[in-house]
Amino acid sequence: MSATVVSIDGPSGAGKGTISRLLAGRLGWHLLDSGALYRLVAYAGLRQALAADDRAGHARLAQSLDSHFGARADGSELILLDGIDVTQGIRSEASGMGASRVAAWAEIRAALLARQRAFARPPGLVADGRDMGTIVFPAAALKIFLVATPEERALRRYNQLKGKDSGVSLAALSREIAARDRQDATRPVAPLVPAGDAVVIDSTGLTVAEVVERVWHLGGERGLWQE
Ligand code: DC
Repeated sequence: MSATVVSIDGPSGAGKGTISRLLAGRLGWHLLDSGALYRLVAYAGLRQALAADDRAGHARLAQSLDSHFGARADGSELILLDGIDVTQGIRSEASGMGASRVAAWAEIRAALLARQRAFARPPGLVADGRDMGTIVFPAAALKIFLVATPEERALRRYNQLKGKDSGVSLAALSREIAARDRQDATRPVAPLVPAGDAVVIDSTGLTVAEVVERVWHLGGERGLWQE
């Protein structure tokens, strides 16, 4: 591995994305949003009208994915697929469910592995996902497993999507989050489990700043950065 990696894994809506972005920003490190890669594969499949169970077709898309992760002039996130802005489109719950479905297929995970590892470049990487600490970066210097109660996660997701995904309701989100948790945790390949050496943080009732501080302190204790 070519750079120090901090992995932040956990279920949907636990706050991994927010915490990872803030931590990477504070450190000036690279950021890997691995969920976005699975979302892009599902999104590209939908766009090409692939059958939902076409594993080979989705695997081909995963291998040849032309994606770009960048930032707009105002600093907000910009994700391109084949040069087209899909930043909003891949965040819908439909893309999330599609991502969870294709992410259960070993050939998709294999096709995305090298692409994910290539994000580990100096000065360091904060990697956000489900299997960052177990499979993609097993030698990560600090592994966090971030959890929160299903109720809190549904509420956070609701607040996040409210303005973007007009059809969204809290009850439907709770059901979808429960279904996605089940699907991600019970799949035979790379199921959602904490690495043996991960530090579990329960963010229920904690503010974003409090969670960032905990991670910051853990990294400081390990000498990854100066507190
Ligand atoms: O983090 P997210 O909601 O954007 O992820 C979307 C789906 O992708 C999630 O339900 C499971 C899958 N995923 C995965 O299997 N492995 C990862 N490292 C990241 C996401």
